[in-house]
Amino acid sequence: MQFNNKNIIDKLTEGEFLNHEEWMILLGELSDDDQSYLHEKAAEVARMHFGNGIFVRALLEISSYCRNNCYYCGIRCGNKNAQRYRLSKEEILECCKEGNILGFNTFVLQGGEDPHQTDEWIVDIVKSIRQAYPDKAITLSVGERSHEAYLAFKEAGANRFLLRHETRNDDHYLQLHPSSMSAEKRRDCLMTLKHLGFQTGSGMMIGSPGQTDEYLYEDIRFLEHLQPEMIGIGPFIPASNTPFENCSAGSAEKTTLIISLLRLRFPKALIPATTALSSLCHNGMEQAILAGANVVMPNISPAEQRKKYSIYNNKKSTGAESAQQMQQLEERLNAIGYHINYDRGDYNTFY
Ligand code: 5AD
Repeated sequence: MQFNNKNIIDKLTEGEFLNHEEWMILLGELSDDDQSYLHEKAAEVARMHFGNGIFVRALLEISSYCRNNCYYCGIRCGNKNAQRYRLSKEEILECCKEGNILGFNTFVLQGGEDPHQTDEWIVDIVKSIRQAYPDKAITLSVGERSHEAYLAFKEAGANRFLLRHETRNDDHYLQLHPSSMSAEKRRDCLMTLKHLGFQTGSGMMIGSPGQTDEYLYEDIRFLEHLQPEMIGIGPFIPASNTPFENCSAGSAEKTTLIISLLRLRFPKALIPATTALSSLCHNGMEQAILAGANVVMPNISPAEQRKKYSIYNNKKSTGAESAQQMQQLEERLNAIGYHINYDRGDYNTFY
């Protein structure tokens, strides 16, 4: 019997419960026609909540040192060829100053788990930014830390935290990470962040080695449990000098499919058009937005360090990916009927 898959998409759009079989059809068996329909519905829902504005976040990549050894990541500690740098407090505040002039209202501090950037050091940075910019949103993305550390970050003035769960499935997690890391630990950190009142972001790579549709189904169920305010989804892209350097990249099509499914399942979530998708294909940002994404995160790190934050090959950091090219970003958004929204863009429970 042939299912009418538009019916399933309509059910998802209406917020109805989908069973396992229906999710598996959405994840793996949609025709081109159904996929276009899905993207249209998802973009419509995004516009209903956010209009045609796309929120922007200034992204600072604060360190390419990392104590972890994730098999997919170019800045894993085992990569002796990785170029390392860490930004000083002064450099970070300088970037924020520039971000402020450019009109950003969110700063995202993202980095590897750099043992030199201690909990105390991060608290000091957050306090300094908070003092200089009382009204801006501060987002941290500095990995797994203790409950006490997360609490201290919150009290110092951080509002949001990004930590991808990467995969919900414990076996798959161990295919992607050394045994010193665990999916359970990652989930515990995320629940802690949620309970502390952070707007919490999670997500996964699409097409990571060993990923199946069944695992993606588990990811969606986990996100339903977590109820994240932000969801970051990008394709896996092989990074040189990593165990996965010869694996094939995830597809843009599958990535935009998942973005649309997540938009429909989490209508108010802040979902970025990720740099990974833009790095994989030239119009990745537009594709993501037309699939329901509503955030972009232009890079404001010092230009000379930017290329060193090489978590995968050919990562984009100039063009519309750069905070210095907001005009170009605006033009590209205008071309598809959207525009930049410079507001803070907090998760909003009221609309
Ligand atoms: N390809 C795509 N995304 C990657 N990340 C790390 N390495 C890669 C890669 N090779 C993602 C991870 C991490 C985020 C900061 O970047 O999901 O959480």
